[in-house]
Order: sequence, then structure tokens, then C-alpha cells
Amino acid sequence: MTYQNYSLKQLQQIDAAHHLHPFTDHKELREAGSRIITRAEGPYIYDSEGNEILDGMAGLWCVNVGYGRNELAEAAYRQMKELPYYNSFFKCSTPTPVLLAKRLAELAPKSVNQVFFGSSGSEANDTALRLVRHYWALEGKPEKNRIISRRNAYHGSTVAGTSLGGMEPMHKQLGGAVPNIVHVMMPYAYELALPGESDHEFGLRAAKAVEDAIVEAGPEKVAAFIGEPIMGAGGVKIPPMSYWPEVERICRKYDVLLMLDEVITGYGRTGEWFAAQSFGIEPDTITTAKALTSGYQPLSALLVGDRIARTLVEKGGEFYHGYTYAGHPVACAVALANLDIIEREGLVDRVKNDTGPYFAQALRERIADHRLVGEVRSFGLMGAIEIVRDKATRERFEGEGRAAVVVRDHAIASGLMLRATGDTMILSPPLIWTRETIDLACDRIVKALDLAEKDLFG
Ligand SMILES: Cc1ncc(COP(=O)(O)O)c(C=O)c1O
Repeated sequence: MTYQNYSLKQLQQIDAAHHLHPFTDHKELREAGSRIITRAEGPYIYDSEGNEILDGMAGLWCVNVGYGRNELAEAAYRQMKELPYYNSFFKCSTPTPVLLAKRLAELAPKSVNQVFFGSSGSEANDTALRLVRHYWALEGKPEKNRIISRRNAYHGSTVAGTSLGGMEPMHKQLGGAVPNIVHVMMPYAYELALPGESDHEFGLRAAKAVEDAIVEAGPEKVAAFIGEPIMGAGGVKIPPMSYWPEVERICRKYDVLLMLDEVITGYGRTGEWFAAQSFGIEPDTITTAKALTSGYQPLSALLVGDRIARTLVEKGGEFYHGYTYAGHPVACAVALANLDIIEREGLVDRVKNDTGPYFAQALRERIADHRLVGEVRSFGLMGAIEIVRDKATRERFEGEGRAAVVVRDHAIASGLMLRATGDTMILSPPLIWTRETIDLACDRIVKALDLAEKDLFG
């Protein structure tokens, strides 16, 4: 029996009876009933009632090449018929992870040439955490194991991912984090810059918080700093251009490894293959997932720099870590086909030179002046809109996140899927969006803001 035999009401009832959703207030969802998405094509998703919704979030920051790519389905089909699964344990390999690892080494910054596969961003960050601590232990410095992260960072939802992340509500439910992880301020000028402080100065001050944490712990105790180049789930927080080069300088000065979490920013979103290239830095690890397959298959790749890889290979012996689906042949076949599409269609370059700048201009010219908007910002095809009660003072509406949810619900009803985190609306569209799609999205955002203004101010 296929799902077409069920009515929306029946699917919602079964969903409510059996399905525990991620990051969800289950009682609230069960009262409201889920929206059931049944198909998608190009930049659009369609729900069970036939509503067409422009997907401003590329699924969950992942469907970079858009929906309905037969090429990816065919790559999966061919691989499934030929070899649906074999592992990379016991001195075995299959062809697709081998070729994908080579391809990723070619795309990554030049000192990054090795790849450890997993199935999700969270898993890849678990690997990264274990790997950097193992690295220092192999170098005879096991006490150099502290990790510095940022408040409000998102690094996944496993115990290690949650511990690395800086989301307070998640920590509260953790019942004990992985030890020796500390969190410093985020580079979020809109709320944290001092009066009169320039963006450049603020970036340096936010980087100094990393240095202060290293000095306070003692550099001999600090293994690494981890950060999303642009904080995604935390509200598309874009650091000033001064931030990352300064963080890199500080890490090198104290011999602290630099770990980038590019689960969202990897594979073109910032107008380069990796945001490391957008910010001009050379990290020691790069966590990637999501757009590696454009979400068509679950796959993550932890890209590992030469320094760590050399020690692991030369001094490591067996590294007791790995997943059943590490280097899954089908997922890797889809990733290779996905990278082919991104390359062939010039999507990375298009974000950098065409749609990225156009998106920034559209947000500035069409959205920024709205009464409910405190700030718009974007980098490549990642954008944010701050929702405020008072533009001049930046005062927020009462009840954190309530106003943004009103805007979001109007946006969805107007045919645009976007997300609200706290009082920030976030956008992360597929890289196939054109100038026309951006115009259409802005029409719908303006409509949603107008309707929300009526609701919120009466
Ligand atoms: C920056 C970042 N890291 C890690 C993750 C976790 O990835 P996953 O949900 O695939 O485990 C996410 C997911 O959104 C993310 O945005």
C-alpha cells in the first residue's frame, strides 16, 4: 500500500500515534497535526493538499542542487544494483568512497587531503572531537584536550555534538556534557558590538575572547578551537571579515588546532566550495555533510588536514573509531554525481558573482526598511532578518521568538518556507535560485511581514 491510499487526516493521526519528531514539542505538534510534504521539483516543495511552497531553506540547509535531479536518482540506482553495500573495515574499500575522497581533497584548502566518512554532521563532529584529542595524545600531550567553542553554536545533536555546541536548552537536557569543553562569546555584532565600535574592531574583540580562554586554561591544556564559519542554526550570524584570520593567528600562536564546522557552509553556499576559502583560512579539520549529497543521501565527510593525518598514520596504530555506514557506496556515488552537477552548472561561481550579491541587494532594498525589521544580513546564499518591535532602539517583541513565528507562519501560507530561530528569520535557499526566484521570495517575505505587522500591532 502506498501513502496515496491515506488521507491527510489519517497520515496525521498515524504520525501523532507513532512518530517522535526531532526538535519538537510533541504535544503541540500532535494537537496541530504535521504538514505532510509529498513531493518536490526544482526550487519547490508540495504538500499533501497540493500547495506549492518555494523552499527558502533548501530542506534543512542541504538541497543545494534543488529537487527532482534524475541524475542523482540514477547514480543511486546503478550503485544499488551493482553493490548496495560493503564496508571499509577489514582492509577493504569500495570504489565510490575512494574516488570521492580524492575529489574532496582536490576541492579543499591545499593542506587538507584526507577524509573520514560518516552519515551525519553530528557523527562527523564526534569523529573530529575524538581525532583532535587522539592527535595530541599521540604527540605525547594527552593533557592538551580542552576544546573552545562558542555560545549558541550548533554542532549537532549527539552527546558530543551537543557538548561542542553552545545551545543552553540542549545542555539543560543533556544530564552531563562531554568534559573539558568551554564556550566563549559569538561574533554577533548586531547584539554584542559596543556603541561606536566598528565591525572590524568588534571582530578582533570577539577573536580576543578565544585568546583569553586559551590563556586562562593554559595553552598546554587547549587542543582546539571549533566554530561554524557562519553560525547557522544559531541565527545566520556572520562574523566581521577581521574575525577568522585573527582566530587563525591566535590558534597558530598558541599551537591550538583550528576546527571548522562547515556542515552548512560547505559545497558552495558562501560562494566558494568551502567558507574557509571565503575567509582565507587553513583549518586543521573541516566537518561537512548536508550539501555533499544535496541531502539526497545521508553522508558526512570529515576533511582532515595534513598535520593531523601525518601523526595518525605514522604514530597512530589502530584508531578505534568508525561507523558501519562510513563510506557507504550508494551515498558516495550520489555525492560524486552531485559534485558533478554543482561543477557543471557553475553553481559556486554563480553564488559568488551573481545570485549572492543580488540576494544581498534585494534584502537591503526590499526588506530592510520594513517596520518589523531591525537588520538584514547575508553572505552568499545565507541570509537573516532580525524581527524587532522598535527599529530605532532594536527592542524585541515580548516572548522570545513569538513574533518571528508569526512572520514564518504567514510566509509559509504565502508560499515561502523559511525558518524562525529566536527572533531571527533565516534563509538558506537552493543554489539553483535565480534572480527571478529571489524576487519572488522577496514578494512573499514582504507580504508575510505586512500581515505580521497587522497581527502584532493590531
Ligand atoms: C553546523 C552544523 N553542524 C552539525 C550539524 C549536525 O548535522 P546532522 O543533523 O546531520 O547530524 C548541523 C545540522 O544542522 C549543523 O548545522
